[in-house]
Amino acid sequence: MNSLAGKHVLIGITGGIAAYKLPFLVRLLRAQEAEVRILMTPAAEDFVTPLTLAALSGQPVHHHLVDRRADQTAWNNHVAHAEWADLLIIAPATANTLAKAVQGLCDNLVMATYLSAKCPVLWAPAMDLDMYRHPAVRENLKTLSDWGQYVLDSPAGPLASGLSGAGRMAEPETIFHHARRILLASDYWKGKKVLLTSGPTQEALDAVRYITNGSSGRMGDAFAKALSALGAELTWVHGPSTVQTSDLPGVQYVPVQSADEMLEACAAVADLQDIMVFSAAVGDYKPAKLHSGKWKKADGPLELEWVENPDILKTLGQAKKPHQRVLGFALESEWNEAEALRKCESKNADAIVLNQAGDPQGGMHTETNRVALISRTGSTALPVQSKEDVAWNILNWMETTWNL
Ligand code: C5P
Repeated sequence: MNSLAGKHVLIGITGGIAAYKLPFLVRLLRAQEAEVRILMTPAAEDFVTPLTLAALSGQPVHHHLVDRRADQTAWNNHVAHAEWADLLIIAPATANTLAKAVQGLCDNLVMATYLSAKCPVLWAPAMDLDMYRHPAVRENLKTLSDWGQYVLDSPAGPLASGLSGAGRMAEPETIFHHARRILLASDYWKGKKVLLTSGPTQEALDAVRYITNGSSGRMGDAFAKALSALGAELTWVHGPSTVQTSDLPGVQYVPVQSADEMLEACAAVADLQDIMVFSAAVGDYKPAKLHSGKWKKADGPLELEWVENPDILKTLGQAKKPHQRVLGFALESEWNEAEALRKCESKNADAIVLNQAGDPQGGMHTETNRVALISRTGSTALPVQSKEDVAWNILNWMETTWNL
């Protein structure tokens, strides 16, 4: 479920300036209840203090193969660290560490543990742009990825050297979402092709104005995060929303504005999907004609003629293949299960998520939602919970109900 409780995440920190961002990664993992243990190379300590990391992880930080603190001399058992881990993250991974990993050198605790690890390994390389594009580094990254290890891209941007280019460490949030996908991917969802719509649509009135609705896009964002973590291959067609998690692994982002654009983007990929989730609050109407340029007061009172937008769920629901499943939403001004069932049938959905506008704990603009799943076989009410938990519970319901 939506938690990393019981998961053991081992982080090896090596000596790059981006090490200063590692406390943020530790916080993200701990907030999801993962157990986090940290190993550092001696060079890493120049960039982030073990004390900070020990405080945030709630565990002592290990630095040396032999621990000579106090008056003890203890061998730091790298094999035990490796066996404990469900996932080893090496971040930031310097060019030096990447080369050692490929050569099998283990002159420090991080590398000795890496060589002993049987769990998945996730690399977040970070270095200056010329190092990052050197053939030696390219070859090492390719080798690690050919060995089945997870190697993140190092995005472009300002670098510590003052230069700008590729080589920055992936952001802690990005590393976190990749780690979740490695740890939480399930047999049911792994590789499933899912289409998701979310957010509001905007229908242009003139060159600068548009009409939209109050959808935050939060419910769709919660679905995207959950589907990414569970291992699905997601096409996410999203209207303009400020609540949007970027760089989710396994997600293809397709930004759109109007309902027509949303339908076109969905129709282009619909045949490839196993499951389609329509959580967008699509505007039902658009102006019959776009005013060219900006409508001026001098042009007279603004008068608009409206035409109906296409119903995306209905269009694709009615075209669905026997192996496909479709989930829609119904936001009603009253709690009306009969109306949700009518929508389910008329749009040829397999289930409709009923929620209520104006519900202080559900609907639009809220962090939580109160929903029921309505289908031809009955109704399942879920308790009021965060939109994230609603998404996880709906996906869990699909898994147990839909024979795919
Ligand atoms: O009919 P109503 O708008 O209440 O239906 C809501 C459901 O239909 C949602 O799943 C929404 O994403 C979808 N929908 C759509 N295209 C529209 C209107 C709604 O896909 N034009």
